[in-house]
Amino acid sequence: KNIVILISGTGSNMAAIMRAAERERWPERLGARVAAVISNRPDAQGLQVANEAGIATSVVDHKAYEGREAFDAALRTAIDAHAPALVVLAGFMRILTPAFVEHYAGRMINIHPSLLPAFPGLHTHQRAIDAGCRVAGVTVHMVTAELDHGPILAQAAVPVLDGDTSDTLAARVLAHEHVIYPRAVASLLKKL
Ligand code: GRF
Repeated sequence: KNIVILISGTGSNMAAIMRAAERERWPERLGARVAAVISNRPDAQGLQVANEAGIATSVVDHKAYEGREAFDAALRTAIDAHAPALVVLAGFMRILTPAFVEHYAGRMINIHPSLLPAFPGLHTHQRAIDAGCRVAGVTVHMVTAELDHGPILAQAAVPVLDGDTSDTLAARVLAHEHVIYPRAVASLLKKL
């Protein structure tokens, strides 16, 4: 079973999944491997990390396409070259068209840095702080056509501390992302 991971930047969640695949021997135990990492940004740092690990990478630069449909069609071609059992969005900062999402129905997941259904969209940590939340966190969910609203697979909660900034809260949440995302991928692979 091939896993294709989509990134737009650092790729710390991608790296956590790659490490788990290695440490937990997914190829032998789950018959699964990270087959490719694809980014919409040529400068995504995560591409280097994947290359150094010997994982195939490609770039589908959204700036090179007129319109969302054209980009999504090119992205789908790049992904399907690896015949994925599972597509993992990891810090992938593009809204995908319903047709694209439909094509991967039941086998595409995302990680969102809030306790959905609270705070879909952007700037989640600042919004949680501004709302006076005492807890914040992260959600792993199936991707559906409605942004940040698919069936929830896993969540982790962290305290919001006095004096937290969006950066300090983001760092606290990110540490938990790196634990629950690999776990969610492994358990979903067992079902696919
Ligand atoms: C993280 O906050 C994650 O929740 C969101 O994108 C941010 C960066 O993720 N999806 P990564 O370090 O690129 O994996």
